[in-house]
Amino acid sequence: MLPPQMLLRRIDGCAAWPLFQRQISVVAGTKVMTRSNRELHPLWLRERCAGPASVQWETVQPLHQPHELPVDLKITSARVRPGGGGGAQLMSVTFSDGHTSVFGCDALEAESEDFFSHGIQQKDIALPNIHLWDANSGAAVARYSYDDLERGTPKFMLDLTTSLLKDGHAILEGVPCFDKELMSVAKMISGFHGGSSVRPTNWGEVFNVRSIPDGDLKDLAYTSERLYPHVDNPYRDPNPGFQLLHALENECTSGGLSLAVDGFAVAGRLRHENPEWFELLTKVASRWENDGGDRSTAMVHFAPYIQIDSTSGRIVQVRYSPKSGGYFPALSDPQMMENLYAARRQYSQLLDSDEYAVHFKLNKGDLWIFNNLRVLHGRSEFNPNEGARFFQGGYFDMDAVTGAYFRAKYKLAN
Ligand SMILES: [Fe+2]
Repeated sequence: MLPPQMLLRRIDGCAAWPLFQRQISVVAGTKVMTRSNRELHPLWLRERCAGPASVQWETVQPLHQPHELPVDLKITSARVRPGGGGGAQLMSVTFSDGHTSVFGCDALEAESEDFFSHGIQQKDIALPNIHLWDANSGAAVARYSYDDLERGTPKFMLDLTTSLLKDGHAILEGVPCFDKELMSVAKMISGFHGGSSVRPTNWGEVFNVRSIPDGDLKDLAYTSERLYPHVDNPYRDPNPGFQLLHALENECTSGGLSLAVDGFAVAGRLRHENPEWFELLTKVASRWENDGGDRSTAMVHFAPYIQIDSTSGRIVQVRYSPKSGGYFPALSDPQMMENLYAARRQYSQLLDSDEYAVHFKLNKGDLWIFNNLRVLHGRSEFNPNEGARFFQGGYFDMDAVTGAYFRAKYKLAN
């Protein structure tokens, strides 16, 4: 049982720790300490100064360059006092260059504890907690109606984008089966003005997935072969964020099922079972390759199989696509090479295991949207003689979705 002065706070849906309701405190007049006993650096504090000499008042954008501040900036005095009502506290800090800033203690505390959820130019930058899934827990992919997307209420947009960010994917039903319709869908979601919201690639604004080449462009996807779980375009820089895959026709009855794997869940499992192998896959940059589809160019990108945020250690991207290489460099340490190949073998086995594979059929008019940096996709082999199977795909960026999420969230909050 926790004492009453403690609160439980959940971060990322997985970690919980107590926060004492002690306020930010000043030790010896110049040391600013958080509740968790972290000393706040003078420059860290100063770059959060929202006074008229530091930021443009409307946008809160900084007016100065970092090198204009003294390199040895110090706090000469700091004082916490009540302010703002509701028990909120303010802190006045005077720095060694004579500047005085006033901060809200709660905002400093919150940001120092969770850098990823509390901003300066917009306070609320918290994304939904990620929900990891496997074959069982992820079996029911969230489905939404295209008609509701057209209406585009903030509540609907929040629900849809929450699914996309939390689960990594969702399916829109009843999307009109017109050529390039996915481009309109991308625009409706992103809310971006002008032009197109999809990101053109060497495969075009959209690409056509049938059992024949897409024009002159050839790829394993443009056959009826089984497609093992993979992410798209790891050879591009940057890798495409979200993919939209629209089923314009699907008359297959015995195959051609779509397949989804939560790459974050798999990478997390590898980290738990073999931290050293996990780390190797985050450290060694592999080479991802493609010939442009028609051997006219080289698309090459160097990046690790698993990417983590170096501050928090969170997994932020997985890469895996045997057809795109993922070749390792020739390292001089033989043992490291052994470990690297062993690590990739386990990673590959997990990604390809039934334990994580979610199968579903995309019916005509379904449009599957998935985070290409997290959710691997594939399909079972199909028989093109059973009937037409015609999917159209395209990409839009991560911020098309995160921007739509915050826009809906702020509208509802107001
Ligand atoms: Fe693909």
